[in-house]
Amino acid sequence: MKKPKATSSSDKKAATPPKLLVLHGPNLNLLGTREPDYYGLATLADINLALARRAAAAGVELESFQSNHEGALIERVHAAREQGVRYIIINPAAYTHTSVALRDAMAATGIPFIEVHLSNVHARESFRHHSYFSDLALGVITGLGSEGYLLALEYLLSQITTD
Ligand code: DQA
Repeated sequence: MKKPKATSSSDKKAATPPKLLVLHGPNLNLLGTREPDYYGLATLADINLALARRAAAAGVELESFQSNHEGALIERVHAAREQGVRYIIINPAAYTHTSVALRDAMAATGIPFIEVHLSNVHARESFRHHSYFSDLALGVITGLGSEGYLLALEYLLSQITTD
């Protein structure tokens, strides 16, 4: 009988699926009913399900987290580093334009991320034109509705396979 192959530490590493985190900022729990002309009709659950299915098909672990509280989002970013999250997709929502603290958390953990907005923030009020995140982001997708999250995920999956 053939002896079973011993598992090396590199085998174990290869068996651990890469982790991705999707962060949704304030009021995004209301998607589906919130200003559909800007944000569309997909609910947050619809978006998270589509992302989870695509990630699962690619063998990647993906968790989504939404909060209306700045501190909770910051703490989730800190936890992501402990968990070895490889990439983050973040829609900071209104915190895009206000939160130095959430920006600092992204910078401190150094996890590469893509910034996503459902609406085209540049076609809206001038206070939405500035983002505290864009200069740190790998890239920004704005105005493509819920498709934007899936496009961000596709890009990250392509990065993971070539990493
Ligand atoms: C948003 C745009 C922000 O200006 C706004 O505050 C949001 C959502 C978007 O996805 O289009 O809450 O990030």
